[in-house]
Amino acid sequence: MHSFTRRGKELFCEDVALSELAHRYGTPLYVYSHAALTRHYQAYEEAFAGISHIICYAVKANPSGAILNTLGEMGSGADIVSGGELYRAMRAGIPASRIVYSGVGKTKRETEEALDADILMFNIESFTELSVLNETAGRMGKKARISLRINPDIDPVTHPYISTGLRKSKFGIPFEAALEGYKRAGRLTNIEIAGVDCHIGSQLMLLEPFKQAIRRLLSLAGELRSQGYGIALLDIGGGLGIPYADEKPPSPGEYAKAVADVLGNEKLKLLIEPGRSIVGNAGILLTQVLYTKKGEGKRFVIVDAGMNDFIRPCLYDAYHEIVHVYEVDRSMELCDIVGPVCESGDFFALNRTLPGCVRGDLLAVMSAGAYGSSMSSVYNSRPLAAEALVKGSASAIIRERGTYSDLTSMEAIPEL
Ligand code: LLP
Repeated sequence: MHSFTRRGKELFCEDVALSELAHRYGTPLYVYSHAALTRHYQAYEEAFAGISHIICYAVKANPSGAILNTLGEMGSGADIVSGGELYRAMRAGIPASRIVYSGVGKTKRETEEALDADILMFNIESFTELSVLNETAGRMGKKARISLRINPDIDPVTHPYISTGLRKSKFGIPFEAALEGYKRAGRLTNIEIAGVDCHIGSQLMLLEPFKQAIRRLLSLAGELRSQGYGIALLDIGGGLGIPYADEKPPSPGEYAKAVADVLGNEKLKLLIEPGRSIVGNAGILLTQVLYTKKGEGKRFVIVDAGMNDFIRPCLYDAYHEIVHVYEVDRSMELCDIVGPVCESGDFFALNRTLPGCVRGDLLAVMSAGAYGSSMSSVYNSRPLAAEALVKGSASAIIRERGTYSDLTSMEAIPEL
């Protein structure tokens, strides 16, 4: 991550001092680097250049219009999991022919919208979904291109909440049932079999689970082809990890090489659905220290961002580096960095040693670009944080800070 660097004592995003952004736009503020975002996307394009492929950015990681627009202009497709994500992707100009739709609970309305848009492929997660899609497509006079999302029963070695490729998880169709599933699909008149799919988990640090999963998909694809089914697309999901501390996840280049090794001479078109590895280290959360107080053996540093703005530390016990925006020459202190929300789970770091914090200090929560803003809420009636994009020495707001009236704008007080 070279786009958030220190110049002298000041932390910069590209050529803009973060303190300047805090001053201009206020805090809490998500800040994204355009250079980092495009570099990460480009790294995938270059790594997979030798393989026929589409990068379908996983919109859930960060669905901001400005981010989708930037990626869309670079040729990205989208992996969506809801009608809302379809709406956002299309609005950002991502062509439907580059959109794949995953998710265990697609509603009728969402399915109709995606059929109407004529997306590239539905990744089907259950037999019931398959027959509902067939019916819906029939009613609309359409044919739905599908893959079955296969649960290859492989341990991706990651946090249980984001591990999806094990038999015990709710995702996909068991590998053993896949052939039968495709046979059923083959009998449905409004279904067109297009590919095979899996997604085994997120924040993966090892290549081996990916390779095992792809091998399983390829053996299935081979079997299906030998039985006369047209399999053109191989969707291997997302999940490549990023460094949050000093981890060393495989680079897109290493990942692509591993994939290419397993693919051999396969002529399938590859779909990949990276989210975190494109946007995670392209963003930070900027927050200001409101108060500090003495706790037992440590200090509490209370900042103006809360778990509603950024829930990863609380939800996954995730580590995020936290640094002073302006380097201070103070002695190190053991502290809990916590938000204003009325829950003990409202923390960004526990037992962290940092140069002492005082009221007014700006802190940067690093690597917050993925699953940060996208998982935020207005819990405790805290309006949504603002988001800004930096490109060179220019910056702009890409989402306004929420207002109090936003909090109530969709409510009604009926007389019943
Ligand atoms: N494709 C599918 C079908 C997915 O379910 C996901 C993520 C991705 C692609 C993108 O995975 P990525 O490349 O970003 O790892 N909120 C959690 C992460 C949840 C991931 C859910 N699925 C977190 O903050 O760690």
